[in-house]
Amino acid sequence: MRMDTKSRLLSLLRAGKEAWVSGESISNELSVSRAAISKQVRRLREEGYTIDSSPGKGYRLKNTMDLILEEEIRNGLETEILGQPEIICLKQTDSTNKQARVLADKQAPEGTLVVAEAQSRGRGRKGRPWCSPEGTGIYLSMILRPEISPAQAPCMTLMTAVALADALTGLLPLAVNIKWPNDILVKGRKLAGILTEISTDMDRVDYIIVGVGVNVNTPFEAFPADIKDVATSIRKETGASFPRVQLLQAFLREFEHCYHSFQTSDFQSVMHRWKQYADIIGHRIRVDMIDRHLEGEVVDVAHDGVLMLRDGDHQVHRIFSGDVSFPDTSS
Ligand code: BTN
Repeated sequence: MRMDTKSRLLSLLRAGKEAWVSGESISNELSVSRAAISKQVRRLREEGYTIDSSPGKGYRLKNTMDLILEEEIRNGLETEILGQPEIICLKQTDSTNKQARVLADKQAPEGTLVVAEAQSRGRGRKGRPWCSPEGTGIYLSMILRPEISPAQAPCMTLMTAVALADALTGLLPLAVNIKWPNDILVKGRKLAGILTEISTDMDRVDYIIVGVGVNVNTPFEAFPADIKDVATSIRKETGASFPRVQLLQAFLREFEHCYHSFQTSDFQSVMHRWKQYADIIGHRIRVDMIDRHLEGEVVDVAHDGVLMLRDGDHQVHRIFSGDVSFPDTSS
């Protein structure tokens, strides 16, 4: 695909690695006038890039690693499906999951991504809000159209959790755990969450929206009072900011590996990694469901994401959804 002048200019500036690139060399390289360069620089600045200009020196692009922009996400993206049809980057939206649903209902293809800098109505599981302040987190939704039955859909959530945990541990010195069904925790506090929404067509899946929220550089003050004790961010855990685009790209690559394994019937290895991150089997837990709670020992977590819990009467319950906690075993 032939790149337009704006993208070619961006590549040249990027290759300059934050050093000055002269107007003359840009003009020669792209075969465009100085006026055309200024126009494209203006457009890039409007998109959110910081570009210095100096009459004697030319142009200089500031670090772009934290900009949620299509060009940045595409640059170095190692995926064949995810983001390939389209990456829609929004400065502000209500919920990326909601927007992805609208697109999926209009037949947007598998791999379409919706990413936002901020969400005004970010949604979590069970209708809870998802704190989504501007410019600090990853708020991403993916449209997937796997040829599976609705009963297999929870596999998508399990593989998302594994992919996220793999991406995080591959890039950062963090001990990451998965809490059933889909919370990503560090030292017992929630760093990321996954919201999977499914649309079915008779007995097959039409599409699945996988929404991922990660607290990357979220300042602690930004968390609402009711989650301050249970939430965390990469910045809080490591003491430093992390480039969101780098984490986003790593997650997309890991997710695609897991998705490929799933489609080639090798879900065993994904499940194995999920169990390692979750470390829940054999442990005593309490699960709060809508109308009741249960306590017991976890026997297994099945491929369909169902948690099997043995209660005090040795009866095994299949639990589809709930909030897990670890009862105090000292008493
Ligand atoms: C949870 O743990 O309750 C799930 C949180 C999922 C949040 C993400 S942020 C991007 C996407 N859009 C939403 O509205 N929700 C998900």
